[in-house]
Amino acid sequence: MKIVTQDRLEIDNAAQSESSPLSGLACTTIKVAHSIEEMMQGFAVRAAVFLNKQDCSYAEEFDGNDFAATHILGLRGAEPIATARIRYFAGFARLERVAVRREFRGGVAAAGIIEFVLELCRQKGYHKIHGNAEKRLLRFWERYGWRRTSAPSFVYAGHRYVEIECDLEPHPDPIVIGKNPVLFMRPEGAWDEPGPAERSIPSPGLELAGDGGDEEGWAKELRSRMERFG
Ligand SMILES: CC(C)(COP(=O)(O)OP(=O)(O)OC[C@H]1O[C@@H](n2cnc3c(N)ncnc32)[C@H](O)[C@@H]1OP(=O)(O)O)[C@@H](O)C(=O)NCCC(=O)NCCS
Repeated sequence: MKIVTQDRLEIDNAAQSESSPLSGLACTTIKVAHSIEEMMQGFAVRAAVFLNKQDCSYAEEFDGNDFAATHILGLRGAEPIATARIRYFAGFARLERVAVRREFRGGVAAAGIIEFVLELCRQKGYHKIHGNAEKRLLRFWERYGWRRTSAPSFVYAGHRYVEIECDLEPHPDPIVIGKNPVLFMRPEGAWDEPGPAERSIPSPGLELAGDGGDEEGWAKELRSRMERFG
């Protein structure tokens, strides 16, 4: 059973355990990293996977693009076991740094992370996801609907890579301008739940007004809060 609450996908493994011997390898929670600690947990997985067995150097792995990315964290209980990052460009997003700790491979942890990323990008209105895959993993990616592009392969950190891409079906309820201005103030991925701003600011100021009449109250409230907190 999968439960989507706020920004996280919670997976009830108890429900899976009778049917799947692999459930012991699954993430119990998959979420967008919203704190430095959660980012560090994803980085720990990447360090264990890429710096260790993949022979990547630190500078290759932590390439300066991590602060331009959304980081996805897969937990089993409190233990970080899987991760990925997404970077966004005009017209497409990129899935990068997919990693599952060795002791949790062979199950559905990777599938959960990939599914979560595709759904997040779909909701943000992307129709195409792009990535680089190790050539030897091409069959793995094809299982998830990805295909190789016509670009030539290349060698990076001692491994041969190919470009891959995946088309996304339009989301039934994508995030668009003009629907709900408050949506954009919510934490990344937690689009369906009231965010901290809505919980802390008196709600009348944030209620959507058809004629824009309440916008002044909302602006006033923000101004007074800014004055109070300097
Ligand atoms: C890629 C990854 C996330 C997949 O995790 P997973 O689905 O839990 O499962 P596995 O590691 O069992 O791999 C899934 C499939 O890919 C294949 N595979 C994995 N690594 C491989 C490798 N180095 N060479 C060839 N095939 C490989 C496995 O044989 C398996 O195929 P099978 O299902 O037919 O047996 C995980 O292997 C990983 O973290 N690898 C290191 C980081 C990495 O390479 N990331 C992807 C960058 S493109």
